[in-house]
Amino acid sequence: MESGTAAPGRASIPARTLRTDNWRKAPIVTFTLLSIWVLYALVRTVSQRNYFVEQYHYLSPFSSPCVSASCPSGARDFGTWFGHFPPFVPLALLVLPFLLGFRLTCYYYRRAYYRSFWQSPPACAVAEPHQRYSGETKFPLIFQNLQRYFFGAAVLISLINSYDAIRAFQGKDGGLGIGLGTLIMVVNVVLLWAYTVSCHSCRHIIGGRVRSFSRYPMRYKAWTFVSRLNAKHMQLAWTTLLTLMITDAYIGLVASGAISDPRFYN
Ligand code: FES
Repeated sequence: MESGTAAPGRASIPARTLRTDNWRKAPIVTFTLLSIWVLYALVRTVSQRNYFVEQYHYLSPFSSPCVSASCPSGARDFGTWFGHFPPFVPLALLVLPFLLGFRLTCYYYRRAYYRSFWQSPPACAVAEPHQRYSGETKFPLIFQNLQRYFFGAAVLISLINSYDAIRAFQGKDGGLGIGLGTLIMVVNVVLLWAYTVSCHSCRHIIGGRVRSFSRYPMRYKAWTFVSRLNAKHMQLAWTTLLTLMITDAYIGLVASGAISDPRFYN
């Protein structure tokens, strides 16, 4: 089926758009920021370097869970599932496909990358350059329907991130300790939970198909809470990209010896 202004039933307007505002700005900014993030994550995950601070048990979320023989023994709290990974293979290979699946199929990110990378469409009321449109009912976009299953995986991964944040309360002598890295990891994991829980699939799991909320007061409370977070899903999507980057970069700087971790306690 033809799409855009050439689609049947659409008003025949020769101009691509009648918008006069700067509608190109949003997709360009999104394209630039997402590209920078993907490039950073790619370099960090394949480098296999400076992702763990043994003394304070700071483990980068980009390399967690670390379950290969390539990881230092102190980082292998979940055991050794694999032998040595060859160079350039991400240490978090076990969860990476699910994390990527969760973000790529996210309703907000779809909007972001459809507009900025595929220009489908680049903005509201702007015709897309593609001549055909099959929606999300055919390969490969039919896989977008896996979002609800990736949500389940994301909950498990958030639990692992929470465990890492708790482990980061490790002091110099192995007892309790708090440093700037601990706080950064805690803030990151709280926001990761907020992003995960604000997912549209989560909202549907909690409140979907309920005919009468008055019969399920607890579900109604949970649904109201999730709905409030859901309204901030876009902001949480961007904030968590930033906190993931900051957490990983901070751990990288401490692990490499470029900076030392300011300690508030032990
Ligand atoms: S993670 Fe964005 S909609 Fe589910």
